[in-house]
Amino acid sequence: MLVHVFTLFPEMFQGPFQASILKRAQAGGLLEVRLHQVRDHAHDRHRIVDDAPYGGGPGMILKPEPLFEAVESVLGTALRGMPVVLLSPQGRLFTQAEAQRLAREPAVALLCGHYGGVDERIREQLATDELSIGDYVLTGGELAAMVVVDAVSRLLPGVLGSEEAAAQDSHARGLLQYPQYTRPPVFRGWKVPEVLLSGDHGAVGRWRTVQSLRRTQERRPDLLERASLTPEERRLLDELQAHRQQEER
Ligand code: ADE
Repeated sequence: MLVHVFTLFPEMFQGPFQASILKRAQAGGLLEVRLHQVRDHAHDRHRIVDDAPYGGGPGMILKPEPLFEAVESVLGTALRGMPVVLLSPQGRLFTQAEAQRLAREPAVALLCGHYGGVDERIREQLATDELSIGDYVLTGGELAAMVVVDAVSRLLPGVLGSEEAAAQDSHARGLLQYPQYTRPPVFRGWKVPEVLLSGDHGAVGRWRTVQSLRRTQERRPDLLERASLTPEERRLLDELQAHRQQEER
């Protein structure tokens, strides 16, 4: 997958993209990230990229010309059909489903918003999508763009060691992940649940399903409303809910 990032701070991307799985994905040719300095496309003497808002008010707004020019000159005809995603706190919430959708694209462009905001014409005429990584405000879209690249990259075929790892993690099917343990079986007196040491794969599978459902119900009941559950999971969830109601009485 080819990711074009348009930003005023390309240096921010150095650390996160040069370690661990993203580094390996790039070395293996599964991911290519091209960073584009928007300021290089401002043609006035001071290379100005922002200006005061019309109508007054605090903060500076990212001007349209440098960003339009950057995107159009870098992408040219490749722009046609490519998702152009503006990162901003006003976007649709970035979820695992959005990550899966983007992972199917051969190329995407990410536009990093500016601390003061962007000229509305960028949002309306240049971006095809607008995403927020959560209900809080960052100093700019750069960290959000890194989060999107990270979450999307690990879904690309071959990026993770085993394809299974991505299929089983939290949110993959709309549920939180079950608790995981490794050696030793007893640490400071705290034991690994017996069933995981039993070697009984059926029992382990059932335990994990129940744990996933319980954890999601306790921590993120909002996710359960949208999760696609098998009839068996639905039955287990009803049991859990009945059990919980009994305890509350
Ligand atoms: N820029 C500033 N805050 C942001 C957020 N929460 N998500 C995406 N981009 C942002």
